[in-house]
Amino acid sequence: MGHNVDTSSISFTALYTGHVWYANGLSDDAFHTRRGSFFYHALAPFELVGKSLVGGDIKTFLLQRHHLIDHLACKAIEEDGVTQVLEIACGLSPRGVRLCEKYKSLKYVEADLPDMAARKHRLLAAEHLLSPRHQVVPLNIFSRDSVDSLETVIDHAFDRNKPLLVITEGLVNYFSTESISPFWQRLAAALGEFPTGIYLTDNYPLLDDHPFRRTMRLLGGMLGTVSRSQVSFHFGSDQQAVEHFQAQGFADTTVHNPRDYYDALPIPRTRGNPFVRIIEGRVGSDTSE
Ligand SMILES: C[S@@+](CC[C@H](N)C(=O)[O-])C[C@H]1O[C@@H](n2cnc3c(N)ncnc32)[C@H](O)[C@@H]1O
Repeated sequence: MGHNVDTSSISFTALYTGHVWYANGLSDDAFHTRRGSFFYHALAPFELVGKSLVGGDIKTFLLQRHHLIDHLACKAIEEDGVTQVLEIACGLSPRGVRLCEKYKSLKYVEADLPDMAARKHRLLAAEHLLSPRHQVVPLNIFSRDSVDSLETVIDHAFDRNKPLLVITEGLVNYFSTESISPFWQRLAAALGEFPTGIYLTDNYPLLDDHPFRRTMRLLGGMLGTVSRSQVSFHFGSDQQAVEHFQAQGFADTTVHNPRDYYDALPIPRTRGNPFVRIIEGRVGSDTSE
């Protein structure tokens, strides 16, 4: 039942997505890496395959998910009074820097496996961006009862009297539903100790009627091979995602489709139904139900 704790073979993918954010004006020069740039250009042929077969290239769904998570995080801060954020599997994402810049009293803790966390720590330290309210810590979602476990990080970093937002982007699809679900249960339990607990994650439902099911499986298979992980599409429909999240403890779950945000956000459009969704799970003593 327990998942292999060493999943560091996935970490290089953060260099690729980090370069996508950089190349699209979402982060500055400090976030540029030579390897990220190399992967970005090396993957161009796959994007061509994606574009012709899937009706939207990889960058399209990456930008859709990134902007939509930003939007929902800002909404949580502005409308739900969130003042503290934990971003797990932060990689080289510039979100923490951007949100700390925008909201001057926000506490933002970025977390990743030890090597990636150390890398992000060095990057932010070199830019003089670290402070008590903006930190980077090691966290492995499969660790239990250790310094890098979810529960320990939450215990040390956050005030249980204030709402907490947790984000994972580009993480959960590297694991089977069976492997990741215990983490979701632990997260729902941990967030339940806050007045409001909100979780945002990206997900790629393998819709029954999706014309590109085979292509999605192919792309997933390729990514699983290079990252030595079990890339999985967790749900067959948005409704299934809602039911599964409720069963893990997220009483109030909403699935956001980028299509519904085309007019509101600067996101590229997909021909047809987009691949990616953002799942918003809520728990906490202030959450009704
Ligand atoms: C595709 S990258 C996403 C990075 C960033 N969120 C983004 O969107 O640019 C996947 C990230 O998951 C991290 N990761 C892999 N296994 C993990 C685990 N067991 N616990 C926490 N993070 C993990 C990797 O180190 C890597 O930074």
